[in-house]
Parts: sequence; structure tokens; C-alpha cells
Amino acid sequence: MAKQYNWLLISLATLLLLVNIEAEEPEEKLAIPTQFPYQVFIDVALKSDNSKWVPKCSGTIISKSAIVTTASCLDTEFDLALIYFGAVNISNAFEIGQTRMEVERKYFEVHEEYNPVTLSNNIAIIKLPFELEFNEYVQAVSLPSKEDLGHYVGQEMIIAGWHQIDNQQKFAVWPVLKYLGKKVARHVGKEAAKWVGKKVVGLLADEGSPITIHENDANIAVGMYTTQNGKTKSKLSHFVNLIKLLPWIKKIVSDIRLK
Ligand SMILES: *[C@@H]1O[C@H](CO)[C@@H](O)[C@H](O)[C@H]1NC(C)=O
Repeated sequence: MAKQYNWLLISLATLLLLVNIEAEEPEEKLAIPTQFPYQVFIDVALKSDNSKWVPKCSGTIISKSAIVTTASCLDTEFDLALIYFGAVNISNAFEIGQTRMEVERKYFEVHEEYNPVTLSNNIAIIKLPFELEFNEYVQAVSLPSKEDLGHYVGQEMIIAGWHQIDNQQKFAVWPVLKYLGKKVARHVGKEAAKWVGKKVVGLLADEGSPITIHENDANIAVGMYTTQNGKTKSKLSHFVNLIKLLPWIKKIVSDIRLK
């Protein structure tokens, strides 16, 4: 009899453990058109061979004529970028709301103090040669001020990506935008930095994917994800803190949306 009870207890414990693991495993979801109007995808190419577009990273619209992404996205020999706006399925050129723009390297502004080893100042801006027309598919994100940081407790931080991986010249194509969310318990900056170091985020996000909070119809970008893992051995190195880099952004772009 006692043996049977033991069995039962062990089975129950296993079941509870399984249920618990299940509950902690964050679920990725498919994005729907208009859900992430500020997120863009970027292909790059050489001018000398501009039929060969290479999937590269995500970027974020911060004004009618500026995209922010990481410096590690643009710090390569490529001299052309193809930017996908309003896209969910980047393989579908006929997707409703999707538009594309080709931009030359002369419009790229990489942070002059970007350090590819430590990954400090890992930020770059693409100034668009043509102004965007905003609509429900294409919108700018807002950037937060330092004072706002305490306001997001209990809200969900969200990261989305197409997950394009450069795997020794073979590109994994998973062309539909997906996302993950996580509730902020205390401090969005610290928690986002920790969160983006997790494997689940790495399996979904692109270089440059923004981490955002959706609040009262506004989308606020607090940081970016970078696949690069600087030589600092810091656990925080997958996170680019946009709040810290705001003064630099303001210097380059005059018409950003501030929260
Ligand atoms: C994305 O678009 C391509 C081209 O239209 C299509 O073949 C593919 O099935 C689409 N993928 C999804 C998941 O909708």
C-alpha cells in the first residue's frame, strides 16, 4: 500500500513539474500586419553585385526619414541596403501594406565611437533618401526618457524578429515575423538586458530587433537585440540600451518621437 502511495506522489510531483515548465516556456506568436508598424527588415548587397541580396537584420523607424539599427548590422563591406517596411512575410512582395526602399551606404551613420570588440555604442542610423508616408502599416516608434523607466512595471516588453541567421553563407529563411513577450516586474532596462540573453529570444530575434513596450496606442522602444556577443564576457552584451544612446540619436535625427 505504502509503495503505491509513493508512486502516486512521485507521479504527481512529475506532473506538477511538467505543468510548471510548460507555464514558464514563453510562447512565440505570429505577428499580424499593422502589429509592428515600426519594425523593418534589412537586406544588404554589394553595389557591384546588386542582384545578390543577403538577409541581414532588423531596424526600427524612429522618424519619417530615419531607421535605427545596430552598428554591427551595418559595419560590413556591403554598400547597399534594401529596407522592407510594413512587412510580416518578407518573401511576399505583394503583401498588402509592404513597401521597400533601396538605400546606399552614404546614408548610413555608424556611431563614431562604436567599438566592435567591446560592442560599446553599438548603434547606427540609416537616413532615408525619401520620406516615409505613415499609415497603419508603417509608423515610427517613440523613444523613452530616463524618467519614464519606472513607469513600465506590470507592462509587457515585446521582441519580434524574422530570425535570419548568417550560417556560413547559407541563410536560414523563416520569413514571417514572430514575437515574444515578457512582463516587467521592476526595472525594464535591467530585465530586458537579462531577457535578451536567453535562448528563446536568440532563436527568434534578428540583429537589431527592437525591444518595445506597447502603451496606450504608443510603441516605445527601450533597446535593441544584438546577436554579437562582445569580448567583455558581460551577460548584458546582447542588449543595446537605447535610453543611454538617446543623446546621440537626438544629435543625428531632429524629428524623433519622444515619449
Ligand atoms: C510568404 O510568401 C511567400 C511568397 O508569396 C509564400 O510562398 C509563403 O507561403 C508565405 N509564407 C507564409 C508563412 O505565409
